[in-house]
Amino acid sequence: MQVRRCANLIIEPREDLAFDLDSLAAGGDGLRTRLSLLALAPHLQQEIEVSPGELAALAAIPCTAWSTLALLEPEHGASLLRGLIDKGLLISDAASGVAVRERDDQLRAANWRSLSAAQHYFSRWHGVRSGEDSQRTGYLTLRELIGKLGDPPPPTQQRSAPEAQIALPRPEPGEFDALLRRRATCRNFDSAAPLSHVHFAHMLQRVFGAHGTLAVDGDEAHAVIKRGSPSGGGLHPTEAYLLVQRVEGLASGLYHYRPLEHALEPLQALDAAAAADLALRSVAAQAWFANAPVLVVLVSRFARSFWKYRNHAKAYRVVTLDVGHLSQTLYLSATDLGLGAFITAAINEGEIEHAFALDPLVESAMAVCGFGVRGQVCETPEFDPGHVVWHADGTLIGS
Ligand SMILES: Cc1cc2nc3c(=O)[nH]c(=O)nc-3n(C[C@H](O)[C@H](O)[C@H](O)COP(=O)(O)O)c2cc1C
Repeated sequence: MQVRRCANLIIEPREDLAFDLDSLAAGGDGLRTRLSLLALAPHLQQEIEVSPGELAALAAIPCTAWSTLALLEPEHGASLLRGLIDKGLLISDAASGVAVRERDDQLRAANWRSLSAAQHYFSRWHGVRSGEDSQRTGYLTLRELIGKLGDPPPPTQQRSAPEAQIALPRPEPGEFDALLRRRATCRNFDSAAPLSHVHFAHMLQRVFGAHGTLAVDGDEAHAVIKRGSPSGGGLHPTEAYLLVQRVEGLASGLYHYRPLEHALEPLQALDAAAAADLALRSVAAQAWFANAPVLVVLVSRFARSFWKYRNHAKAYRVVTLDVGHLSQTLYLSATDLGLGAFITAAINEGEIEHAFALDPLVESAMAVCGFGVRGQVCETPEFDPGHVVWHADGTLIGS
């Protein structure tokens, strides 16, 4: 049998602290420390504890070339190596190892940087309901947060004495300045109002639509698209997958947006209750986002970016920055149309990807945005210190 180490592997020495009554009774600090070595191998999608001996074997066995298992056994021991194969950290060419081998091959083909792959795949959620905590404990005011956490770092950095600063002119604000001032994360959607079909289409066109293309030798497969947001390498690896809840003339359900054709691909129809349930699970039970008429899952196709930026230290950062740019374009586009918008990274990637039938080793949810008609009353706090969106009494300005 031939074996090789899995392609992407980070080992984290972890220290867990636990309360220990015996230690307290014996006059100690009441804390028990547990040290462990954790293998973060994204193709396995769960942390695996390894022994120092297993770590030594993993460090010695190449991940590119295959090695004959029998020749490794004298040094590392047959049962230790068998254990590593069973754990999925050593990839074998045996028929029994095909499932894990295929997953490892998928990651190899995507040209991930190991550190980035570990960061991405071990920060994914499944079944988290963080929104419920905020609702249960109430929203902490800034004053309460400071009381709990101590002083935060200052809001801005000062690098010289005030008299050394060079004052800058403040040009007369124009329409764009007013638009920027009206932008605010919306946590108060109208739970009943549908979004007009035209606004819906306009939003998709503005944020995700292709405003132009450049194809090599006229070959569409080799085209790059132009969007309203910049993208690292011009590759635009991020796609829009939609959970539609209330759009005029459109059945609720799951869709994928095609930027070139400016068209929707229907993926699955969902009744209103199923759509609402998925929406709530997707945004980790943040009820203030889940009732938006449209939720847009920003899904990055890593191989598209890493095709150019292979095993590249900056590539994953670029993909996440792309997502942020799309989000700001979405916010501003919505604000311009008089709509509310949001982004959240507190998402259950596992559930979203399952619903949209996305293989996370190929393409993965990075954030969820949403947009739609604002409600008339501010029930969930928004950050609007200048009262540009909400009157001081919590009613919507301009409605
Ligand atoms: C990457 C990112 C993630 C965010 N995640 C959440 C979130 O999980 N829940 C939430 O209520 N707001 C979330 N927000 C919104 C911020 O709380 C909001 O931008 C901030 O309070 C400032 O308010 P403003 O956007 O109205 O200026 C997120 C914003 C960004 C940029």
